[in-house]
Amino acid sequence: MQGKYRALWLNDDNFLEVIDQTKLPFEYETKVLKTTDEVVEAIKDMTVRGAGVIGSVAAFGIYTASMEVDGGYEKLKEKASHIRESRPTAVNLMWAVDKMMELLKDSTDLVGDSKAYAIKLNDEEALESQKIARFGCDIIEDILKQKNKTKINILTHCNAGWLAVIDEGTALAPIYEAQKRGIDVHVWVDETRPRNQGASLTAWELTQSGINHTIIADNTGGHLMQNGMVDMVITGADRISANGDVANKIGTYLKALAAEDNGVPFYVAIPASTFDFDIRDGVKEIPIELRSEDEVKYMRGVDSDGVVREVLVTPKDSPAINYGFDVTPARLITGLITNKGVCEADFDKIREKFNNH
Ligand code: MRU
Repeated sequence: MQGKYRALWLNDDNFLEVIDQTKLPFEYETKVLKTTDEVVEAIKDMTVRGAGVIGSVAAFGIYTASMEVDGGYEKLKEKASHIRESRPTAVNLMWAVDKMMELLKDSTDLVGDSKAYAIKLNDEEALESQKIARFGCDIIEDILKQKNKTKINILTHCNAGWLAVIDEGTALAPIYEAQKRGIDVHVWVDETRPRNQGASLTAWELTQSGINHTIIADNTGGHLMQNGMVDMVITGADRISANGDVANKIGTYLKALAAEDNGVPFYVAIPASTFDFDIRDGVKEIPIELRSEDEVKYMRGVDSDGVVREVLVTPKDSPAINYGFDVTPARLITGLITNKGVCEADFDKIREKFNNH
């Protein structure tokens, strides 16, 4: 299967091609994004999703836009801000667009240079993901040693695997590494309503890799933790403030509270591009995406004839509200698993390690 270990790539015609994540786990389809509008729409409707991949697609989106504008940097800037505004919470999007535009400032070959920079940026992200895998897996080994156990139970929320961040993801990267190291690993997969990224995407990824996992309804984690059935939690993130507050998929905060109450280590795995050093208080300042109420009111699935359908699961006229993310305060986070090693979720420690990048 092409794209099994990358959610996006340049196809033989040099256009951006992506896995259509809205179709998984029932159908594997890819989409070719030939225009800026198609790139923006793919980010908005979550054909592509996950902070890292949104940034990756945005970088190639600048390359796509460069083919539409007639050589002018100023015109490219307009297209860039269109891409930059497609979703509000994952800061990797803004980071990738700004970085691409900065690199292209003095370019005399926008198409050639933007393609080269987008490829480079993505290769660097892939390298970070591999480092996160190794640092995260060292923690898994430490926990097993401390507990004198041979099997680890990890709970994760949403999808932060290779569909969300190239090449191995963030939260799932240490789990893939654990499999490589021969560790007996089992993953509790939060379904992650309303878009079901856990049940649809994380479960699909883990199935592809033959990793032992169990899907749970979103509210199950607390019960499992109380009963000693979770050794650690690992999530990804969409944005981290300078003081270590973490925005991630709605529901993450409640898992962190339950973990704190039960002494379960709660780790967040992130590449450097997820930091937002301009924000000091994540809880107050990180913008939270508000999405359509239909995502709460309707669910997608396969009927008994094998046909994919969307069904209403609420009274038709009941209103619903759909916040995409919440913010977990730094005090609830055991550690950040980064490409530079494990870091305390603390202003000074983060600054020391990343020195504003
Ligand atoms: O709305 P999504 O699916 O783009 O949100 C993604 C998440 O919140 C994931 O949990 C994730 O950790 C960020 S991607 C590494």
